[in-house]
Amino acid sequence: MKLEIDQQRLNSEIEALAVFSDAEPPAVTRVVFTPTDLKARAWVISRCEEAGLTVRQDTIGNIFARWSGADPAAPAVGTGSHIDAIPNAGKYDGAVGVLGGLEAIRALQRSGFRPKNSIELLVFATEEPTRFGIGCLGSRLLSGTLSAEAAAKLRDRDGESVDEVRKKAALSGNLQDVKLAGGHYKAFVELHIEQGPLLERARTSLGIVKSIAAPASLRISIEGAGGHAGGVLMPDRKDALCAAAELILAIENAARLSGAVDTVATVGVCDVFPGAVNSIPSRVGLTLDIRDTDLVRRDGVMQTIERGSQSISSKRHVSIQSELLNADAPADCAPEVRGALADSCRKHGFAFLEMVSRAYHDSLFVSRIAPTGMLFIPCRNGYSHRPDEYAAPEDIARGALVLAESLAKLCSSSQ
Ligand code: GLV
Ligand code: MN
Ligand code: MN
Repeated sequence: MKLEIDQQRLNSEIEALAVFSDAEPPAVTRVVFTPTDLKARAWVISRCEEAGLTVRQDTIGNIFARWSGADPAAPAVGTGSHIDAIPNAGKYDGAVGVLGGLEAIRALQRSGFRPKNSIELLVFATEEPTRFGIGCLGSRLLSGTLSAEAAAKLRDRDGESVDEVRKKAALSGNLQDVKLAGGHYKAFVELHIEQGPLLERARTSLGIVKSIAAPASLRISIEGAGGHAGGVLMPDRKDALCAAAELILAIENAARLSGAVDTVATVGVCDVFPGAVNSIPSRVGLTLDIRDTDLVRRDGVMQTIERGSQSISSKRHVSIQSELLNADAPADCAPEVRGALADSCRKHGFAFLEMVSRAYHDSLFVSRIAPTGMLFIPCRNGYSHRPDEYAAPEDIARGALVLAESLAKLCSSSQ
């Protein structure tokens, strides 16, 4: 079997996907189920069909593009990632795993390989939490990590429910049907940019993920009292934004003092009401994103933040309510998938690092139902979730080659 990646085609497809964006280039904004995202999804489906794959969508919009194996009833070997992008993002997060996965399948087809197990490319719906406040909605549902009832209750910032948004995206049917039957996948591998600087610093072009850190997120609502910016004297104030400022610093401090560099906490959204120059903020909405490789440590930091929040609330006479959106456990990557990735690297003479994924991925949830692994490639300066995110075409092609080799190892050949 001679595997060759068409680097030029893969690179031009990554560029073509980036054109589906609601931001000025080089920034990419592609929030799930917006008209721009729907056009991008249709474009990806057409690329999959052109490769002879059979495409279906489930009721949350996960796209499955299948290359049928000689034994279609045997569990499939899966690969894939996402194409939704947070506001002001780059071209590579998710896209490398989807288009690199497609090119890996095409390379296997060109090589004459005939799989016994089907190979399935997955484009997960709503990996990013931008729209519904929770990431990986598609993979949470297909792995049964989130119930259909809980998903149906989610709303976007405009108050539209998941069902209303799905309907507008021409996705009908019951969300209960998203959960995959047990044993659907024999194995799953996701190719992704590292989103950190370690591969680049080690001058190593491939990373095999050992484990995926545990993410949690909360929505925090602070309610104080508004009023005239001139009239209300300082001792009488219950300024919700000042309380938010104190809480944000308490969050930063709690993460810094956890004792490990693996603890990270971010407040990425701060909505101020009424948002007028001469009006004291009466309400503030914050989001908290907190992650750690160690679940006990992460939960300990969350408790420290909760205690800090109670003390700020009583000191400043404001109410602070937290709503837990998700608190997930970490995942270990499966030895058989890590082994297939390592053997494939060795076969092609590529060095690799074994590493932790501090970002979360749909693989975190697929790992609950199938042996799962991830392959990382470097991105310049470790930049991600920003417009200057960049991965070199030769690194992407190398990743796609190792992915193709690993998919072949994970499914049996029919010859
Ligand atoms: C995924 O995009 C993450 O935030 O880790
Ligand atoms: Mn992302
Ligand atoms: Mn991603």
